[in-house]
Amino acid sequence: MSVLDELSTIETEVMAAVSGAADESALEAVRVAELGKKGRVSGLMKTLGGMSPEERQTAGPALNGLRDKLATAIAARKAELEMAALNQRLETEREDLTYRRSCSRRALLLDAGVRGVAAIFADMGFAVAEGPDIEDDFHNFTALNFPEGHPAREMHDTFFMKPDAEGRRKVLRTHTSPVQIRTMMNQKPPIRVIIPGRVYRKDWDATHTPMFHQIEGLVIDKSTHMGHLKSCLTEAFSRFFEVERAESRFRPHFFPFTEPSAEMDIRCDRSGKEIKVGEGDDWLEILGCGMVHPNVLRNCGLDPEEYQGFAFGLGVDRLAMLKYGMPDLRPYFEADVDWIKHYGFKPWLLPSVTGGLS
Ligand code: DAH
Repeated sequence: MSVLDELSTIETEVMAAVSGAADESALEAVRVAELGKKGRVSGLMKTLGGMSPEERQTAGPALNGLRDKLATAIAARKAELEMAALNQRLETEREDLTYRRSCSRRALLLDAGVRGVAAIFADMGFAVAEGPDIEDDFHNFTALNFPEGHPAREMHDTFFMKPDAEGRRKVLRTHTSPVQIRTMMNQKPPIRVIIPGRVYRKDWDATHTPMFHQIEGLVIDKSTHMGHLKSCLTEAFSRFFEVERAESRFRPHFFPFTEPSAEMDIRCDRSGKEIKVGEGDDWLEILGCGMVHPNVLRNCGLDPEEYQGFAFGLGVDRLAMLKYGMPDLRPYFEADVDWIKHYGFKPWLLPSVTGGLS
């Protein structure tokens, strides 16, 4: 058989193998067997050196032509198979985009954590209050008794907006506490509100995202004291963690807007893989709280001789991490449907006290 006949046989054979390759690995096997380093066509290319000049003159271009033709056919079949594989994947991985959008828009957490906590407090007679995400310095700091130039203002890693004509810079609120001020300035006591909302600080790691969620509580009347604060929070967290009694302890702390101020820890067990709330010998820091500072009451036009009350604030994202045993906060914001399913969230199911949270 002449070289040219041989090439033509190879061509017919390989072309059939290429179009018959059922998937990318079968196709790759054909490519390796023919055009790979030790392939049949590559082997023939190597024999060119041993041919007479006349033979080489016809066999050379024919071999090159065959090699190019096969390479082109393999590439075309590869593209075809890739497209088929993609279509098949799209077919089986079809997702309900309404579901996904609805998940990401609420950043999910608002469902799992904020609504859960807010539902508990609503059941205890708290009304929901809200305020703007873009705040002025007065509501975010000054009225809350942060002295001008006080380092606590820097403590929050604030996002400042561009200054206005008078040089005043608005901020992305660093906490939900400014809504306390708005509520006290607009509403006569008795006040009993729960304030869920987004807050912003320059932070990004496994347990911090630049936007996160807080819940603030505020109770103002003539006789509310620290004892009420503690029993109210213990009750709420027992319900949130679905335990008989989430035992808590207060540690003295400092916040400019409360006096006295405390941080509340709840009893937990960290000996296992996951943190268990309500048992064990360990304590978990969970929120800041205290009696509203007389200066804050005065800044809102309330007479501290007549009115008093408590406030508390907590990060809900961290709380949900604990409840659901999640190691990283960032996937909250990625709306990955598999992740959502893994944690069993249902975007349209509103948590309620009667329906439970989990
Ligand atoms: N605003 C505080 C923070 O973001 C949390 C807080 C602490 C709120 C004590 C309060 C409170 O209302 O009384 O760190």
